[in-house]
Amino acid sequence: MKRKKIVAGNWKMNLNYKEGIKLATAIAKKMPAQSDVQVILGTPAIHLKAVADVLQHFSQIAVAAQNCHQAEKGAYTGELSVDMVQSVGASYVILGHSERRAYFKESNEVLAQKVDVVLEKGLTPIFCCGEPLEIRKKKKHVKFVKKQLQEGLFHLKAKEFSKIVIAYEPIWAIGTGVTASPEQAQEMHKSIRKLIAKQYGDKVANKTSILYGGSVKPANAKELFGQKDVDGGLVGGASLKAPDFLQIIGSF
Ligand code: 13P
Repeated sequence: MKRKKIVAGNWKMNLNYKEGIKLATAIAKKMPAQSDVQVILGTPAIHLKAVADVLQHFSQIAVAAQNCHQAEKGAYTGELSVDMVQSVGASYVILGHSERRAYFKESNEVLAQKVDVVLEKGLTPIFCCGEPLEIRKKKKHVKFVKKQLQEGLFHLKAKEFSKIVIAYEPIWAIGTGVTASPEQAQEMHKSIRKLIAKQYGDKVANKTSILYGGSVKPANAKELFGQKDVDGGLVGGASLKAPDFLQIIGSF
């Protein structure tokens, strides 16, 4: 079964407004005209509208928010609702990034609520999971990720789950320059697909795009994306440079 190939950039808290527009423009200008890769730019919230405007004639490039609040609206000073990010052009929302989990104490329980509000509004969650180094050293990484998926996603019905994109991002590979080997990525992606199959059946599992994240670069993207169960990448640092990001998109 054909799965959607996806290359998503996560700009994190980088680039001011002008720099963000410049980067989005540079990527759009050089995008291959005929590509079956869905490209997503995960920009800071303040850039979303301008970047969405730059990309309006590029149907294969979408815009993602990096987070949203689980409540529809209300007295949550400083937060953003799904409705807000959707109203400025976001069609994806990155949820449960390890930095949100670590620095903002986002639990699987809160993430499950965020997944629900994002789906209710018709946006696509990119749900992140991944283990810290000490868990991998103890060979408990599959169990660890299983719990994240069970508690964050498996309350969904099959029809809802089929809209989810998963990003496996081992914490020890994020921003460290250390990439999971293609074999390590494939092992985890295969396990994730198996878990989905057990919960929702083979059809849903075979349709779910599972992205790898953690020091994806032009030099390693081809090998990673060549793995059977790796359907693309969630790219941090290398998504901030147009030539690198374009090269990664071209790695499929
Ligand atoms: P790096 O590509 O900078 O390691 O970041 C990965 C990541 O966290 C993407 O969400």
